[in-house]
Amino acid sequence: MKYKIFGQKSGLRVSELALGTGNFGTRWGHGSDAATSKQVFETYINAGGNFIDTADGYQLGESEELLGGFIKGKRQDLVLSSKFSTGGKTLLTTGNSRKNIIHSVEASLKRLNTDYIDLYWAHISDGQTPIEEMMRALDDLVRSGKILYTGFSNYPAWRIANASLLADLRGWAPVVGIQTEYNLIERTADRELLPMAEALGLGVAFWSPLAGGTLTGKYRAPIQDSNSRQQAWGGALLKGETSDRETKIIDTLEEIAKENDAKILEISLAWLRQKNDKNALSAITILGPRNEQQLLDNLSSLNVTLSDEQINRLNEASKIVLGSPYEIIESSQNSIFGAGSDLVETKHTVR
Ligand SMILES: NC(=O)c1ccc[n+]([C@@H]2O[C@H](COP(=O)([O-])OP(=O)(O)OC[C@H]3O[C@@H](n4cnc5c(N)ncnc54)[C@H](OP(=O)(O)O)[C@@H]3O)[C@@H](O)[C@H]2O)c1
Repeated sequence: MKYKIFGQKSGLRVSELALGTGNFGTRWGHGSDAATSKQVFETYINAGGNFIDTADGYQLGESEELLGGFIKGKRQDLVLSSKFSTGGKTLLTTGNSRKNIIHSVEASLKRLNTDYIDLYWAHISDGQTPIEEMMRALDDLVRSGKILYTGFSNYPAWRIANASLLADLRGWAPVVGIQTEYNLIERTADRELLPMAEALGLGVAFWSPLAGGTLTGKYRAPIQDSNSRQQAWGGALLKGETSDRETKIIDTLEEIAKENDAKILEISLAWLRQKNDKNALSAITILGPRNEQQLLDNLSSLNVTLSDEQINRLNEASKIVLGSPYEIIESSQNSIFGAGSDLVETKHTVR
C-alpha cells in the first residue's frame, strides 16, 4: 500500500485505497454482519490501509456504531471520515443547514465513540443551503476540534469552487477534497469535477470504483447470491451493462484480464489507480467490499500494473462526450490558438 498527501490543501497522509463501510451492517437488508465487518476492517488495516469512509446514514447508523468499536486503540493511526446530510429522517435532521450540521456531528461522534472526525464531508447537496452558511458552520467545527478537515461529496463543481474560494478569502478552514462517483462506466466527473480538483489542488476520493459490482464482470452470468446488490437492493447504486458502450468496456476488461492473467476487477481498479499517475491530481479509491474475500480481491489490484497501451485502450472504450463548451475549446486549440506549434504543453488540465 502506498500513501499520498490528500490534495494540496492539507498535509493529511492517506493510503491510496480507502475502506468504504457502506456494507458495514445489515439494517438496509443488505450488507455484512458485525463479525464479517470486523474481519474486513482488520484485514484492511493489516494491509496498511488507514483511510476509513463512513456516513451517518450508512446502514441507518450501524456502520458508524460498528466502527466505534473497531477503532478502539487505533484511533490516532486512522483517518476517520464521515458525512452529514442524509442521516436523519425528519425535516430538521436532514439537509445541510447549520442546524443539521451541528446536530449530525454530535450524533456521529457519539456513534463513532470518538472526540473528533478527521475528515467531515457534506454528503450530497440539498439544493438549498447557502455555501456561506455551510462553510462558516464547518469552520466553527474545525476551530472547536470536533472535525479536522472538510470536503464535498456529490456537489456541482461550481458550488465547490465557490466554497473553496470563499474559505480561502475569508480565512476559514479550506475545502480539502471532493468525493465523486467515478469508474470506467461513470466518467462524467471528467467534464468539470476532476479538472476543478486538479486546478484547485483538492484531493479526490472515487466512490463506486466497481460500479457496484458490474466491473467485476460477474453480472455477465446469472447471480445466485440473494445478498448480492443486484438482488437485495434491486440494483440501487449498480450500473448495468445496458448499452454498446458498457459492453465494449467489459469486453475490453476481459481481454486485458486475459493478457495479464488477472481478474477483471483487478484491471478495473488498476486503471483507476494508474489513470491519474501522469497528472497533478491526488486521487484515491474507496473500496466497497462486502466480505473479506472481496476485500482481498480488491487489494490484489495493487499487484497489477497496466501498460500505457492497455490504459489507452480502456480510456478509449470508456470515453465520454465532453460536449459544449469543451469540444469547441479543444478544436480551437489547433485552429486558433496554435497548440502543437512552439507552445510548451502544460502538465495539468486547464480548460
Ligand atoms: N459519497 C457517496 O455518495 C457515496 C456513495 C456510494 C458509496 N460511497 C462510498 O464508497 C464505498 C464504495 O462504493 P461501492 O460500495 O459502490 O463500491 P463498488 O466497489 O463499486 O461496489 C461494491 C460491491 O461490488 C461487489 N464486489 C466488490 N468486490 C467484489 C468481488 N471481489 N467479487 C464480487 N463482487 C464484488 C459487491 O457486490 P455484492 O454486495 O452484490 O456482492 C460489493 O458490495 C462505499 O462503501 C462508501 O463508503 C460513497
